[in-house]
Amino acid sequence: MAQDGTRKVYVKSYGCQMNVYDAQRMADVLAPEGYAETADMADADVVVLNTCHIREKAAEKVYSELGRVREVRRDRALDGRETQIVVAGCVAQAEGGEILRRAKGVDLVVGPQSYHRLPGLLEQARRSPGVVDTEFPAAAKFDHLPGASREKTRARGVSAFLTVQEGCDKFCTFCVVPYTRGAEASRPVYAILREAERLAAAGVREVTLLGQNVNAYHGQGPDGAAWTLGALMRRLAEVPGLERLRYTTSHPRDMDAELIAAHRDLPAVMPYLHLPVQSGSDAVLAAMNRRHTRDDYLRLVDQVRAARPDIALSSDFIVGFPGETDADFRDTMDLIERVGFAAAYSFKYSPRPGTPAADMAAQVAEPAMTERLHALQALLDHQLRAFNAATIGRTVDVLVERPGRHPGQLVGKSPYLQAVAFEGRGAAAGDIIPVTVVGTGSYSLLGERADIEPERATA
Ligand code: SAH
Ligand code: SF4
Ligand code: F3S
Repeated sequence: MAQDGTRKVYVKSYGCQMNVYDAQRMADVLAPEGYAETADMADADVVVLNTCHIREKAAEKVYSELGRVREVRRDRALDGRETQIVVAGCVAQAEGGEILRRAKGVDLVVGPQSYHRLPGLLEQARRSPGVVDTEFPAAAKFDHLPGASREKTRARGVSAFLTVQEGCDKFCTFCVVPYTRGAEASRPVYAILREAERLAAAGVREVTLLGQNVNAYHGQGPDGAAWTLGALMRRLAEVPGLERLRYTTSHPRDMDAELIAAHRDLPAVMPYLHLPVQSGSDAVLAAMNRRHTRDDYLRLVDQVRAARPDIALSSDFIVGFPGETDADFRDTMDLIERVGFAAAYSFKYSPRPGTPAADMAAQVAEPAMTERLHALQALLDHQLRAFNAATIGRTVDVLVERPGRHPGQLVGKSPYLQAVAFEGRGAAAGDIIPVTVVGTGSYSLLGERADIEPERATA
């Protein structure tokens, strides 16, 4: 503990944006108990590993990282300082007490639905290390986390995440999320609105609504009815100061007409849609239990593009799902060619304990997976480059986020989620500046302010 009596907490997050959001809520719940956040593990009285269970590689990371944390604890002990080690997130939920058996020195294992109990759990673990809390259900958590309470919402920039829905009832046959995050639960509209207003008041200009199935949102509205995500965004678009709305991750089955209309009608809803398809083969989609066909997906893309012609689409792909043939894979490549994506994440199938696909016969051999992944990523890379190149010469609104790599340079985001760097010339974080894209750099697009005269070269 520091001399002034404050304790320090360090949270390292893996996995999806919901873990990033949860990490901030953990820090918020500990702040009134006298904990300050630190970015330096060696400085922390409490080290939290906020883990991801989605693929084997992600899940195994925690065990190597725990080795490092134990070394930090040993060093700190030499100075007479104690360190509590916490495993949170989806591995905590999936493996529970097993973690205590596999790794030495863990004081507390806490699942995503129990973060509001952190102060008490840490206290309990101080008296007797090896506490496990992986209780469901989700409902209580949101009511107790600072985002929804009277606590001041602390913004950490001009862009923020806001969880509106958690959990999943879809049970895709490859996926652990329904087991780690539980059943779908939506926060009520008033709680989201209050959090959004606080974020805006703290300087946030862009909010990304989060949910494992964000467009299955069905939270209770002030009128007592269940609101859709489209209706929620219509309301959020009225919050003063909130200029940009995004949402992730959507499921194709839950893209309803109201949500598509929101893209057409609301300038605040950014022209970007992450819509995972996983595969372009009907046989694989059926085996995955995605419950839609490739044609359903292609039709949906047409509808979304009709509503918002300039929308940028991104997706997730799995190659080597059990039973996937070369012909199935070609169907995926064909779907990618037809749609044209601005960005994408792609993965080799990873069998997960307890999921139906892990027990399917016809697991695909590693070399075939590697080959398919390379081909798929080459095509998606090509599309990403083409999408970025097509922006050159256009003027786009850039939300300024931070200083760039060179003095005077600023970096922000285009509506299409591209990083754009430009000479700031008086602009500041939070400004939305029209920028003409003039080229592509290695990590971002390069642009020039379009709202003021170009700087004259000095002789
Ligand atoms: N809710 C989102 C996805 C959440 S998981 C959806 O429905 O699409 C993020 C991505 O991880 C998935 O889209 C999928 O592409 C990938 N993924 C999930 N389980 C996986 C597994 N067992 N092996 C490989 N990739 C997986
Ligand atoms: Fe996983 Fe499917 Fe749910 Fe997405 S929809 S979280 S892939 S089970
Ligand atoms: Fe990973 Fe859990 Fe997110 S498994 S992807 S951290 S919901």
